Amino acid sequence: MEEATRYESLRQEFNRWAAEGKGQGMEHEHMPIALPMLERMRLRPDEAVLDVGCGSGWLVRLIARLVPQGRVAGIDLSDEMIRQAREASAGQDRVRFEVGSADHIPFPDDSFSRAVSIESAYYWPDPAAGITEIARVTKPSGSAWILINYYRDNPECHQWAPLLPPTHLLWAREWEELFRQAGFTDVHHGRIPDPTPVPDDYHGRWFRDAAQLRRFRAEGALLVHGTKPSA
Ligand SMILES: C[S@@+](CC[C@H](N)C(=O)[O-])C[C@H]1O[C@@H](n2cnc3c(N)ncnc32)[C@H](O)[C@@H]1O
Repeated sequence: MEEATRYESLRQEFNRWAAEGKGQGMEHEHMPIALPMLERMRLRPDEAVLDVGCGSGWLVRLIARLVPQGRVAGIDLSDEMIRQAREASAGQDRVRFEVGSADHIPFPDDSFSRAVSIESAYYWPDPAAGITEIARVTKPSGSAWILINYYRDNPECHQWAPLLPPTHLLWAREWEELFRQAGFTDVHHGRIPDPTPVPDDYHGRWFRDAAQLRRFRAEGALLVHGTKPSA
């Protein structure tokens, strides 16, 4: 698929998700893996944080409460997600949302002490360019944190491929390598299992049965993080 077409079809796909209310739905789905990530990040009250692929903005609003003297921005390729994020955040002056792509982040160099991204990076047409852009807008000594449920080390998610727009199914060590190539140091990965109970009568489309969904949640989401060297 031609590059411009790929971005446009991603935008349309996620505009559809937004129109169907999935932006808000993901808050409930991703919260059990987001909270342990936030705990590990140990945010200070005055941090400036960017959320890349922020969807309807729930994580931006949550982080804003954790950094009462700081500021938080979210960007997303989907203009409908951003419209909903702005609507849900009306009157909050420390949060800001912009339409933008991970590989063209609409902020100057060294703008944020932290960058986060949940369940978005495997959709980016060019993940290497996205992580390089994140490194550009991260301040020296700041850090980037990417959390994803779709990665090759977890065999219980591979059946998603035909259900998703074009995606990248990379190994954890390949994500780490992208961080290092972008200039991050102290790069590590870990897993965040999801303790949410699975009902026996699961009949969704993403997993064969309840047993597979349980195995998937036990394997956990992949968390990759790295630090931008000090100037
Ligand atoms: C599965 S949703 C996750 C949204 C949000 N992080 C959450 O947890 O609710 C993936 C999001 O990534 C966004 N996205 C996909 N490709 C992107 C890109 N290249 N740049 C910025 N956002 C992108 C989509 O528009 C969508 O809102």
